[in-house]
Amino acid sequence: MSRLVVVSNRLADPRKPAAGGLAVALGDALARTGGLWFGSSGATAADLAPGEGRLRTRQAGKVLLASVDLCAEDHAAYYQGYANSVLWPVFHYRLDLAQFDPAYLVGYRRVNQMFARKLLPLLRESDLIWVHDYHLIPLAAELRALGCRQRIGFFLHIPVPPPLVMAALPQHEWLMRSFFAYDLVGLQSEADVDHFTRSMVTEAGAQELGAQRLHAYGATVRVAAFPIGIDVEEFQALAAAPDAVHTFEALRAEYSRRQLLLGIDRLDYSKGIPQRVRAFRQLLERYPENRNSATLVMIASPSRDDVHAYADLRQELEGLCGAINGDYGTLDWMPLRYIHRTVARRRVPGLCRAARVGLVTPLRDGMNLVAKEYVVAQDEADPGVLVLSRFAGAAEQLEEALLVNPYDTQGMAGAIQAALHMPLAERQWRHQRLLERIRRHDVHWWRQGFLQALEESSSASAA
Ligand code: G6P
Repeated sequence: MSRLVVVSNRLADPRKPAAGGLAVALGDALARTGGLWFGSSGATAADLAPGEGRLRTRQAGKVLLASVDLCAEDHAAYYQGYANSVLWPVFHYRLDLAQFDPAYLVGYRRVNQMFARKLLPLLRESDLIWVHDYHLIPLAAELRALGCRQRIGFFLHIPVPPPLVMAALPQHEWLMRSFFAYDLVGLQSEADVDHFTRSMVTEAGAQELGAQRLHAYGATVRVAAFPIGIDVEEFQALAAAPDAVHTFEALRAEYSRRQLLLGIDRLDYSKGIPQRVRAFRQLLERYPENRNSATLVMIASPSRDDVHAYADLRQELEGLCGAINGDYGTLDWMPLRYIHRTVARRRVPGLCRAARVGLVTPLRDGMNLVAKEYVVAQDEADPGVLVLSRFAGAAEQLEEALLVNPYDTQGMAGAIQAALHMPLAERQWRHQRLLERIRRHDVHWWRQGFLQALEESSSASAA
């Protein structure tokens, strides 16, 4: 069995309880092969110059954690700049928010080159390397340039935009070419595979070879959808633990005469949070029976505060939330509880179970795992209803959710109304089907499917 090497911008200690399902699942796979997890430490060091990094290693059980400190300038250009002010908005179809500063691209390439230099000496000949997400797209090309011949797979956690949106990215040809240094590129959905393939064919002149293979720049890459799942057992164990049970009971007691709606997101413009608040307002306006009853708890955890678009969103949201409470609140009822904090992961299942409606309404999202967690947390005998944006990758799998268009305020208000008043039998059959699919396509299925495909792919040197 090959040793697994995972590379991601963020590192997590898979043994820590706050790590989350993805870290646990990757940690399991790493522990099985005695693996290596490499990434940025998130810390900046004043004594480093641009392009320099400081590597620290630490053993966590059977997994070697290798993290790299950057200088502040590199962190700003690579992470805040190219990753989060260029790739993130463009890949989420938000050209209006992208900041095409050429210095960002220079920093992004510089950091990826430095990561490749730091990673290379840690590699063994038979390693299987799995690179994650948009921060690291050119990493395989940089590793190959240094002579790395191991199999390298890439999984993109965010969506792929249609070709004409991708083409707006200055130097997109360079970015596309970098994908051909991988043996396997995994995407979240069939829509992403379609966009990716069309971009490669029209913009990079790639040939479709069949069997999900694309050929360009003298290399062949396999491209396929591997929709990511959650660790159902881990989440159910969390749901049965005291913190979640206590959270559930406290909320149920507090809202015994009211109906709870829930949104949990990072505070990100891709999540459609203002659109959700507008739809909730519309619900109270058009269906007055919900006044003094339906209460929206909206948890938006702080994220990427140093990027302008995020600060603007925060302000917009504070205005919208204040207005709804001012206009509809009464002495003993506030329609909206907006919480700009991170809620401990161990309480999340309790929150989900207490909510009659789960609102997952992004404008665009790679997958969205909160949608899956909401379903798993429900009481099978009396389940809540998932209202899900059709623009979340999860909508390809979760057909029995109430699918909505978050840009259509009235339509979304109508769907929330339907969810709040859905008969028990319908809630049960929808929930059962959703749960079945989430169980079958869990995070272990995802990981095994990807790694098996990577094992089977020919190495780039043979392509
Ligand atoms: C998305 C990305 C991840 C990222 C996460 C949190 O899910 O796909 O790669 O880690 O957001 O964002 P942050 O910038 O805090 O790492």
